[in-house]
Amino acid sequence: MSLLKSKLEEIIPKFREEVGEIRKNHGDKKLCDVTVAQAYGGMRGVKVMITETSALDPDEGIRFRGFTIPELQEKLPHAAEGEEPLPEGLFYLLMTGELPTEENIAEITKEWQERGTLPEHVYKAIDALPKDTHPMTQFSVGIVAQQTESIFAAEYRKGINKMDYWKPVYEDTMNLLARLPALAAYIYLRSYKDGKVIPADPTLDWGGNFAHMMGFDTKMFRELMRIYLTIHADHEGGNVSAHTTHLVGSTLSDVYYALSAGMNGLAGPLHGLANQEVLRWIMDVKDQLGGGVPTMEDLKKFVWDTLASGNVVPGYGHAVLRKTDPRYSAQREFALKHMPEDELFQVVSMLYEVVPPILLEQGKAKNPWPNVDAHSGVLLVHNGMHEYDFYTVLFGVSRAMGVLASTIWDRAIGLPLERPKSLTTEYIKSIL
Ligand SMILES: CC(C)(COP(=O)(O)OP(=O)(O)OC[C@H]1O[C@@H](n2cnc3c(N)ncnc32)[C@H](O)[C@@H]1OP(=O)(O)O)[C@@H](O)C(=O)NCCC(=O)NCCS
Repeated sequence: MSLLKSKLEEIIPKFREEVGEIRKNHGDKKLCDVTVAQAYGGMRGVKVMITETSALDPDEGIRFRGFTIPELQEKLPHAAEGEEPLPEGLFYLLMTGELPTEENIAEITKEWQERGTLPEHVYKAIDALPKDTHPMTQFSVGIVAQQTESIFAAEYRKGINKMDYWKPVYEDTMNLLARLPALAAYIYLRSYKDGKVIPADPTLDWGGNFAHMMGFDTKMFRELMRIYLTIHADHEGGNVSAHTTHLVGSTLSDVYYALSAGMNGLAGPLHGLANQEVLRWIMDVKDQLGGGVPTMEDLKKFVWDTLASGNVVPGYGHAVLRKTDPRYSAQREFALKHMPEDELFQVVSMLYEVVPPILLEQGKAKNPWPNVDAHSGVLLVHNGMHEYDFYTVLFGVSRAMGVLASTIWDRAIGLPLERPKSLTTEYIKSIL
């Protein structure tokens, strides 16, 4: 058995017991009150879910199992050629709560290489779609098409004991994560290149190989994928992609159904699709202003025009965060290190100065600061990936690690079917 799975075998029973005790002895303790505004307002701030893998503080930003992004950049092992953390290491941390050794990482890399072949029928399912189908639609189809492989579904039919649910979910997760790069790479090559599959390079790590299979073989692109896949993986449990995966998984749908559903949520412009929208918006600015780097005054006018036309400024604002997203800062650091002179990066930096005061002046957005999506596109364009409709798929490959690690833990601690109570306006009126 792998080191990762045997570690889980060791820690799951203890944690399950601990959670059982808490539920039994402290089940009556109140977490929060819910207001009418919260019921109508997308449940912001309502504390009703358990997610172990990460926690989000409005001011500090994300901590993965207690570690900030700068801490992970320092503590997680990196590829021999670079300095960025290996996403395999983050996955180990999310799963176990412990920092991985080099050996732990090498094992996951190897396992994902061995499990990484996409079933033939998945290519066919994608090929049945028109070539110009949005990459996120292709991604969702490609994930759910793999449901034929579900070990959990097969074990469930055989009557597996619920205490053991997490084990086939773990196997399905490892298979799915192993194959997502091949799936995403195929979608990229089919949508924008000649559609010929680029075979995996067994000498590369998960992120590096993903870059390679999409046809990007520079060290900078590999490094970009490593940091990109690490920082986008998890953002606690309430965001739409995580919550949807958790909700669908709570019916004991297998991870193929659950992740595909979560990815459909990520495909919304207020969530993951914002990364493509940011790039589209910046290109619009450049086009309308005749190319080159616009002036601050030009940018201010463009931001006000966007707001006046009833649109959001993509890449700014957040449902929880109230400061600059540390995932934005990590990407800014990457740009400052590798591409400080890049024209689009300069525009992104100018927007960082221009947008927050305008959103503050407008007085609507609770958070005027940039989020993760404000920065990722320019890094990709600089490295030769111009097809911004594809960007959310990259986000999805990463997000899968977080939401699937959580799904394993959901089954390990026996979280039940999720079923909150909904209310009618008639009821609300009756309590006023
Ligand atoms: C992320 C987001 C959906 C959070 O939504 P939220 O929790 O409802 O945000 P707020 O409570 O601050 O929203 C209050 C108001 O400010 C507006 N607002 C928030 N962010 C805004 C932005 N970037 N540009 C313009 N208006 C914005 C909201 O649309 C809302 O307007 P309304 O009262 O007319 O409905 C929102 O900030 C947004 O749409 N951002 C742009 C899209 C984006 O970058 N998404 C990726 C998030 S990681």
